[in-house]
Amino acid sequence: MKVLIVGSGGREHALGWACSRSSLKPQIYCAPGNGGTTQIAENIDNIDAEDLISIIEFVKHKKIDLTIVGPEVPLVDGLADMLKKSKCKVFGPTQKAARIEGSKAFAKRLVDEAGVPTAEFEVFRKITRAEKYLRELCSLPVGAPIAGNKPFVVKASGLAAGKGVRVCSKLEEVIDAARDMLEHGAFGKAGSKIIIEEYLNGIETSLMAFVDGEDYLLLPPSRDHKQAFDNDKGPNTGGMGAFSPLDDLTSEDTARIAEKVFPPILKKFVKQGTPYSGLLYAGLMLTDYSKEDKGVKVLEFNCRFGDPEAQVLLPIIKVDPLEIMLAVAENRLKQWMVDNDLEPHDWQKLTGDRHAVTVVAAASGYPESYPKGMLIENLPSENDDVILFHAGTAIKRGRLVTSGGRALDVTGLGGSHKKAVETVYAAIEQVKFKGVRFRTDIGRKEY
Ligand code: AMP
Ligand code: GLY
Repeated sequence: MKVLIVGSGGREHALGWACSRSSLKPQIYCAPGNGGTTQIAENIDNIDAEDLISIIEFVKHKKIDLTIVGPEVPLVDGLADMLKKSKCKVFGPTQKAARIEGSKAFAKRLVDEAGVPTAEFEVFRKITRAEKYLRELCSLPVGAPIAGNKPFVVKASGLAAGKGVRVCSKLEEVIDAARDMLEHGAFGKAGSKIIIEEYLNGIETSLMAFVDGEDYLLLPPSRDHKQAFDNDKGPNTGGMGAFSPLDDLTSEDTARIAEKVFPPILKKFVKQGTPYSGLLYAGLMLTDYSKEDKGVKVLEFNCRFGDPEAQVLLPIIKVDPLEIMLAVAENRLKQWMVDNDLEPHDWQKLTGDRHAVTVVAAASGYPESYPKGMLIENLPSENDDVILFHAGTAIKRGRLVTSGGRALDVTGLGGSHKKAVETVYAAIEQVKFKGVRFRTDIGRKEY
């Protein structure tokens, strides 16, 4: 069979890597791919992941059997709908279902109507209304300055490449952030509608599932680290490292959390006539570990695999992800689960006792400005416990160079979390390019 993977990051290399090990023995194409995907696929580097017309033409011309869409933008723009209209199979939700990531205002309303726990929130288009809301909420008299220490979170509703969220500790900052987005076009159209929501304390956790209508198969819980520097300091990035599974959540805990989140949302989608199909990512805050469901509240949904979470999840599952993605694309996930004796929350059966940790080797200056084209040397050798997923690399005149801020994702595996951490750090310390930088604390405070 022929498979096309759309995208060019570490997530897409991981998807391609998983497909390359499939018993279905696919011929793999990657559009546009990166320096690493050349090892497992043919890169179609003249087709950008957001160039929907060229993707459709390529899929028809090459008679691709399954298109797997890595990033959110083409899904939110309707790539899955266009492929389906052309009778081509796709792993990824339709445009209407992808709104769960494309519009945070839509997602918050859906979550609220479905009775899924989330932070208290309001949606605004006008700064005057946002000001009035804060004034009333904080009992500030008319005319008094909006000042004081109370944390809130301000979010651009539309897609902003993970940068559209401002966590504010002072009321002045809330108004500044809201004004930046609504009046000064900080995120362009994505910020013309904003959400102001209650700040939640807790421990962040990602839960992902393969979804086909109301049927779903949960993947192991994982944890991402978005801040640039150790101890979660510095600006937010696309993700500096992740690990899975989590020693602080048993499979029973995860089942109780998933039960609160997935069935109500999936039912709601079906009821609206826009069933969800693909990978659904729930970004969660666990606000109270004394409760059975750990006080779970949804922070956000994404309509695709997490990056770098995919780089830990795909290597630890023992089943064939390509078989599952094909089953989802053909609306037969339930039957596949019956055939493989799997229930929705059986993620422990999927992993056995494998643990994985991914650490990102980034360019100095990332996520702000950073140089490109640095020669990458000393790649650690890969084996059953060390995998290199390329994120921002390219091959120039036969040599591997950096082409993005997050250049390489190194995944370490082991029979325990500690072993996986030791393995990943022994490997990533070898990587050399000018200015290379990585977080030294991914997964380390957990043992
Ligand atoms: P989001 O894109 O909505 O997941 O937000 C990005 C990041 O901002 C999350 O991963 C959290 O670290 C943080 N965040 C978002 N919403 C909240 C909230 N209500 N309370 C605390 N932190 C939040
Ligand atoms: N790792 C966070 C994301 O993929 O959105």
